[in-house]
Amino acid sequence: MAEYEDTFEKVMELAKRRGFVWPSSEIYGSVAGFIDYGPLGAMLKRRIENIWRHFYVVQEGYYEIECPTVGIEPIYVASGHVGGFSDKMFQCPNCREYLRADHAAEALGIPHAGTMSKEELKEVLKGKECPACGKKMGDVEVFDFNLMFTTSIGPGGQRKGYLRPETAQGMFVDFGRLLRFYRDHLPFGAVQIGKSYRNEISPRQGMIRLREFTQAEAEIFVHPNEKDHPQFSRYANYAMPLCGIAQQEKDAPAIVKTMREAVDEGIIANEYVAYYVAMTHDILTTVGFNPDKIRFRQHMPDERAHYATDCWDAEAFSDRFGWVEIVGIADRTNYDLKAHSRVSGEKNTVFVQYSEPKKVHHKAIIPNFGKMGPVFRGKAKAVAEAMTTAEPAEDGIHLKLDGEEILVSPEMYTVKDEMVDVFGEDVMPHVIEPSYGIDRICYMVLEHAYAEDNADGEKRTVMRFKPGVAPIQVAVLPLMARDGLDTLAKKIVEELQDEGIQAEYDDAGAIGRRYRRQDEVGTPYCITVDYDSLENMTVTLRERDSMKQVRGRYEDFVNVIPRLIKGKVEFSENML
Ligand code: GLY
Repeated sequence: MAEYEDTFEKVMELAKRRGFVWPSSEIYGSVAGFIDYGPLGAMLKRRIENIWRHFYVVQEGYYEIECPTVGIEPIYVASGHVGGFSDKMFQCPNCREYLRADHAAEALGIPHAGTMSKEELKEVLKGKECPACGKKMGDVEVFDFNLMFTTSIGPGGQRKGYLRPETAQGMFVDFGRLLRFYRDHLPFGAVQIGKSYRNEISPRQGMIRLREFTQAEAEIFVHPNEKDHPQFSRYANYAMPLCGIAQQEKDAPAIVKTMREAVDEGIIANEYVAYYVAMTHDILTTVGFNPDKIRFRQHMPDERAHYATDCWDAEAFSDRFGWVEIVGIADRTNYDLKAHSRVSGEKNTVFVQYSEPKKVHHKAIIPNFGKMGPVFRGKAKAVAEAMTTAEPAEDGIHLKLDGEEILVSPEMYTVKDEMVDVFGEDVMPHVIEPSYGIDRICYMVLEHAYAEDNADGEKRTVMRFKPGVAPIQVAVLPLMARDGLDTLAKKIVEELQDEGIQAEYDDAGAIGRRYRRQDEVGTPYCITVDYDSLENMTVTLRERDSMKQVRGRYEDFVNVIPRLIKGKVEFSENML
């Protein structure tokens, strides 16, 4: 085997060679920040997305929507992306390379560079060596670079468009229609899985920082004063290490807390955020993250996005990149609905009924038409209507009607103080947002699954994927490609396919080599067809990780395999 520096290099070599992931447009030299998912990578990604859907769409009941990736300008003016979605950048005066200022400062060992101003970054970078060319830089100018890709819509470029930098805005812009779909009741949620785009300044981290990437986002609209999750008991006792603001301030290690404790002790802002912190841990371990390499870190106040009050990142550990943000779970308050309301004129509120009507004082203004008629003549009716919502002063009611100042004197009306029933109020919901970077998840699944061990005295490389995400789920291997073994093996493949299983037939080379090939792409099960199979229709089922084999009737395996893949049954002698 060739020598590689770390797991990242081994994983990426395997990923390219075996059809998981490779650089996009390689024949033209590629450009950083774009990747292609090959046949196995696309399958792995789809399976991960479908597990995510299982949690959010099936379990939570938040329906999926699909909005365009090109958005018109007002969306991103309202959302704040046109004005402020930028990174701080500088150009090396020697090599002319454009670099992200905070990353360059971090590479020089300067702490908290991500929260520094342009002036502070300019100061710390002054006279330092350029991370790209290594030469001393002297003075550098640090400026903002907006990360959105721009485009134009229609011929002649009349309308400016942006490639969406997050899927989230689609759900905010569609709020009114979603509200009607959910029959005007809170809470409700909508999710979206799709491509987003950020014109990253100098992406150098493979699948971790891409210019075109896939997000899976949920926007959950809740009552601003009711942030208790209705299903909180599902995760109330779920415990995990948390690096809250207090731990980070003290440089203390993460503390293990249940979600109930975390909310009660004020570590996590509310049940909604805590619920999705726990569910995220559940999802990440379900798709195959090593639980020892996951942690949850709260954003420090100066690190939070402009829209968030509380935000937790799920981070995963990579041998190459250290702790990497994989998921952000934020309470976005009503920031986005308010912003879109301001720009679009839509109300973006929900009428929330009280459990019982509230009695409130109401001042009713009763016009005296006998007195008003002679004074206001044809306008009397319009004046009377305008009066109903006015506040009387001592000298009467002051109104402005069609630009004319009008004073309605006190003898023209009576004020009746009455108690009326109020049935509810208009509220602007708050939004809880769990946002997942699917490509980062795919990378971590690859890195955490990668293993080397020994098989039959030989070193083997094995991707220990969870069966639920493995691209090829079963390989069917006839011992010989003749004598009817091949025909039976193909029949088993067809029967598995009929059950919705991704099964592959392989008769090329020695059986040991075929197992190695499947191990390397993480196929969890291999069925081997031998001469006894022709006699009694029995085959062996081999499990990838233990390499143990169980013999049984092939039809029984066809039945049990879907349950093995779902994790409903353990591989063992007694599973049939
Ligand atoms: N929607 C959150 C993000 O894209 O960062």
